[in-house]
Amino acid sequence: MVIDLKILAIESSCDDTSAAVVRDGRCVLSMHTVSQEQFHSKFGGVVPEIASRKHLNSIYEVTEIAIEKAMISETTGLDAVAVTCTPGLVGSLLVGINFAKGFALSLGIPLIAVNHLKAHAAACYIENLGLSPPFLCLIVSGGNTCIYDVKSFTNFNLVGSTRDDAAGEIFDKIARRMGIEYPGGPFLEKMASGGNELKFSFPIPKLKEFDFSFSGLKTYAINQVKNLKYSDFHDFSASLMFSVSKYLSDVLICAAEKLNRDQVAVAGGVASNSYLKKAINLECKKRNLKFHFPSKKYCGDNAAMIGVQGYYEFISGSKAELDLNVIR
Ligand code: KG4
Repeated sequence: MVIDLKILAIESSCDDTSAAVVRDGRCVLSMHTVSQEQFHSKFGGVVPEIASRKHLNSIYEVTEIAIEKAMISETTGLDAVAVTCTPGLVGSLLVGINFAKGFALSLGIPLIAVNHLKAHAAACYIENLGLSPPFLCLIVSGGNTCIYDVKSFTNFNLVGSTRDDAAGEIFDKIARRMGIEYPGGPFLEKMASGGNELKFSFPIPKLKEFDFSFSGLKTYAINQVKNLKYSDFHDFSASLMFSVSKYLSDVLICAAEKLNRDQVAVAGGVASNSYLKKAINLECKKRNLKFHFPSKKYCGDNAAMIGVQGYYEFISGSKAELDLNVIR
């Protein structure tokens, strides 16, 4: 539906400060993101206090650049402001929410509250113009691993989630034990290239229906690292990528079959992993399921996806008030 609605979107839930301007929910006019990775890497993960202070430093400039790149007028070109309100680090979310409130108030335009996880699924719409619900979406990041049944653009049903660690989090922790700074996922993927996927095996738990558990696998892998020589790193990383990808893919496909969905998607930071996409794609081909995923720039935390989901929330009548707070 084209109504020429331009939304300024703000994302600050973790360690990326991002702003975007999105037209009619599918067209990203601009996006600008500043990553804080360099400030957190030596700590092995995101430090909440540092994250919120860095968001404060960059949010104004990031937004200004996004508006400039969209080539629209700051005062007359925007129709609404969308902002992530949950889930995430409270201090980080508060920076984005308060900035968005001030922006919306000063321009007299509506404010839209967006759920970060719904937005990850919405990232799949940006480059797949034909995609519309229903579909099942596996969301895998450093903080979450879950499967949503996306029944409509705004109605999501959680069908499974991790009972302990998230997949990205275990990659970061295992890599840290291998001497690698945060984030470890991209390093493990590179290290896996050309390695033997079957050399090492990892314990994969079988849980009720579509839940995941990664803590046993993480502890087992971390203990293994102690006995590895550097020359084993290729095979170890390849086996880890293969096992985790197969685990995620098996549960997703099983859920799609049980819930009778003919299209599946993967989103979130870990969705840029080629092993994961290959594993899901293989199973989808066997079953004639359609498979969707965002390109790399829309996998990790980004404001474009907030603008996309914000659009669908807005046209379905959802509007936030100025007392909007972080939803824990
Ligand atoms: O969605 P995201 O950018 O941020 C949040 O978790 O909020 O995801 C970051 C996570 C980190 O754990 C990182 O190690 C992982 O995604 N990650 C990857 C890859 N790229 C990022 N894991 C495996 N393979 C990758 N290529």
